[in-house]
Amino acid sequence: MSNHHVIHLISIVGPTNVLVGEDTQSFATDYRGVFRGQALAVVRPASTAEVSAVVAYCSQNNIPVVPQGGNTSLLGGSVPDASGTAVLLSLTRLNRVRAVDSLNATMVVEAGVTLHAARTAAEAAGALFPLRIGSEGSCQIGGNLSTNAGGTAVLRYGNMRDLVLGLEVVLPNGEIWNGLRGLRKDNAGYDLKHLFIGTEGTLGIITAAVLKTYPIPRAKCVAMLGSASADLALEAFGLLRQRLGTDVTAFELISSDAMALVLEHLGRQTSPLPTTHPWYILVEVSSTSSQEVAEASFYSALSEVAEKGMIDDAAIASNEKQAADFWLIREEISDAQTRTRGSVRCDISVPLSSIPGFIRETSAKVTAVAPSTRMVIYGHVGDGNVHFNPLRPAEMTPEDYLAQHEDAIMKLVDDAAMELNGSISAEHGVGTAKRDELLHVRSEVELKLAWSVKRALDPANLMNPGKVLPLMPTN
Ligand code: FAD
Ligand code: LAC
Ligand code: ZN
Repeated sequence: MSNHHVIHLISIVGPTNVLVGEDTQSFATDYRGVFRGQALAVVRPASTAEVSAVVAYCSQNNIPVVPQGGNTSLLGGSVPDASGTAVLLSLTRLNRVRAVDSLNATMVVEAGVTLHAARTAAEAAGALFPLRIGSEGSCQIGGNLSTNAGGTAVLRYGNMRDLVLGLEVVLPNGEIWNGLRGLRKDNAGYDLKHLFIGTEGTLGIITAAVLKTYPIPRAKCVAMLGSASADLALEAFGLLRQRLGTDVTAFELISSDAMALVLEHLGRQTSPLPTTHPWYILVEVSSTSSQEVAEASFYSALSEVAEKGMIDDAAIASNEKQAADFWLIREEISDAQTRTRGSVRCDISVPLSSIPGFIRETSAKVTAVAPSTRMVIYGHVGDGNVHFNPLRPAEMTPEDYLAQHEDAIMKLVDDAAMELNGSISAEHGVGTAKRDELLHVRSEVELKLAWSVKRALDPANLMNPGKVLPLMPTN
């Protein structure tokens, strides 16, 4: 990087917060080590004013800016390309909880606050910030917003988009938009915050947000269930929801191959259930009634589900520690795959009624193409979201499996989801990995509209260039 750029950036954020050379490497590689790029420099501002000054300087000097939160996203959005021309803007030092308003049920947090810290701050004020994902210790509110993160409590509380009332954003020219309004009703014009949610840093830098909080449920019941088929598991979901309504907070499906993988990763012999099952379900119910009342209706609904043959066994967590232990099994599946290497990661959604057919038919197609594949299938099926992640046979190297099968498997999985009116990216976003696929799954009208928004806000294409949008036509 030319010295005068470094000197100017240092004048904004201080000498210890501009990294160059080798010090940029860990930032320029994603969490799984799959996407690797090069950064001109890593810059770590500590305030909105500093972000604004850095972005204004980059805009004036035609330097691309790649924002980065916890760097846990899975599709390459948070790392720069290999050109070494971009400033990587790390939001980690913007980590203050600015305010908590209990009556308004809101909190104002900066973009670099980790999800765990946001949940803890809400809890300290006697409230719940409900977003829950396995990476909560590292991922940040700015990253959660920019990817419209989902996770394991969407069923009850919605995606990140549903959990935000206002944003503060640094625009591509460095201007600051203060939209930190904590209003549940506000129809005074376009609701501009949605431009920045789920657009992976391609339209501006989120620096702070007004988040919604909820009452902490008084009661919580968690159980691991065993089921003979995905069809029966989905029937169980339908019945539980009929009986317990929105108290059904999480409903996660886990295939037997996914369970075997994660148990091995955790060094355990068995799941919470004594025998093996083709499918496992992790269900959580929470409510504002007493624990006794909640348990009584949970047990009654579970008995009905069992009597109807939808499940074959159930282990009910008897305390918080056991509940956390059941959840650990679910949350470690992703890291178990990362460690094993050689899985094709597909994150699709389809209407709930299509999930069993999707799983059955797509599994058969994958097995026909790549025999002995381990069917690591899991996800938030209560939201229609399946992580369909075929894994190499143990005797095949990750490199060989992916070289031979990744493209074909990904195509047949995505095609199957699209045939069912689904999506090729349910909650993980687009990054670079899914970018060009948008050309096949989005209409020309939709892509033109997206490009016109991008051009209007970022005419020089300096905000996270090359991410999300397949092409940037010149006319
Ligand atoms: P990063 O990876 O740093 O960035 C993500 C994108 O947002 C990038 O394009 C980046 O440029 C942009 N960005 C980051 N900060 C800002 C900002 N302040 N302003 C503008 N743009 C910004 N995801 C789910 O949805 N559900 C899950 O259940 C889930 N489970 C996971 C489990 C594990 C073990 C792991 C490793 C990941 C999981 N993820 C999940 C994916 C990931 O954690 C989420 O996408 C998360 O929201 C990313 O946050 P981050 O701070 O790490 O963002
Ligand atoms: C999960 C991530 C991979 O649900 O989205 O574990
Ligand atoms: Zn997920």
